[in-house]
Amino acid sequence: MSHDVEDPAAGSQAPNLDFKGTTPYEDYVQADVLTHLQHPLSEDPGEMVFLVTTQVMELWFTVIVHEWETAAKALRKDDLPVALAALKRSTYELRSLNASWEPLAHLTPAQFNSYRSALGEGSGFQSAMYRRMEFLLGEKSASMLVPHRGAPRVHDELEKALHEPSLYDEVLHHLARRGEPVPQEVLTRDVSQAYRPHPEVEAVWADAYAREADEAGGEEKETVRLGEALTEVAELVWRWRNDHLVATRRAMGSKVGTGGSAGVAWLEKRAAKNVFPELWTARSHV
Ligand code: HEM
Repeated sequence: MSHDVEDPAAGSQAPNLDFKGTTPYEDYVQADVLTHLQHPLSEDPGEMVFLVTTQVMELWFTVIVHEWETAAKALRKDDLPVALAALKRSTYELRSLNASWEPLAHLTPAQFNSYRSALGEGSGFQSAMYRRMEFLLGEKSASMLVPHRGAPRVHDELEKALHEPSLYDEVLHHLARRGEPVPQEVLTRDVSQAYRPHPEVEAVWADAYAREADEAGGEEKETVRLGEALTEVAELVWRWRNDHLVATRRAMGSKVGTGGSAGVAWLEKRAAKNVFPELWTARSHV
């Protein structure tokens, strides 16, 4: 019995096939560039997904940095709706980023060892886009520029980000302009230094959250909405760090890292950090 199999590229309703140069899809997406950036260093068939997952995460870091920079810029103009929309998008993106741990979350030490030596001294610790994310969160550190001295564009971008106010700095300036008692020393702090939690900032959040249910508390509700959007971001960053930690523990136990750190013991300390610290501690005072 013969079947007439319809050619999807035939007939008057079919998509266009005829382009003079490269397809408009290619011109926009640059899929040909993107899908030829995979150069595994070992013969191991499992290395491809390790490399691509890392590249996918770099792309998510890039989008998330874009959203947080959009939010920071909007807050500078006191445009809360634009800032909240960007933060909201970033939480969807963070969820996708975190979901991309799945292919690496179940590696056995032998599977990881099959290509680990090919990585040499390469480590995610050297990811400049991840540092951009941390800088936007207020986790500034000039020494994180050092690994990038040999790459001028990367170094310049990171140096610029080091000296710009973080997303959290912009949040606090915005709250101050709305009349919240954010202390002067926080508003005039050296933004190239790591943000240190301040009891009066904690009090600003605690107060807004305490008055959340007040009938008249319109401003407080806005502050709480912003606080909750930031809390969601903070929680998802914490989840990324902890998923990374567990994947690492499964893949290599307590061996030292390819980047030269103590490995899991070092990552445990990093994963224990609280993003936007006062948003967490304020909750004890509500
Ligand atoms: C199972 C796979 C992985 C293992 C075993 C692993 C292991 C490690 C270790 C041991 C460190 C500490 C620094 C060092 O000495 O190297 C580290 C840091 C880091 N890794 Fe991974 N990693 C894995 C996958 C990934 C992936 C897919 C990414 C995505 C880009 C990534 C991003 C990072 C980042 C950003 C740091 C620095 C963290 C910080 O500064 O707090 N890692 N990794």
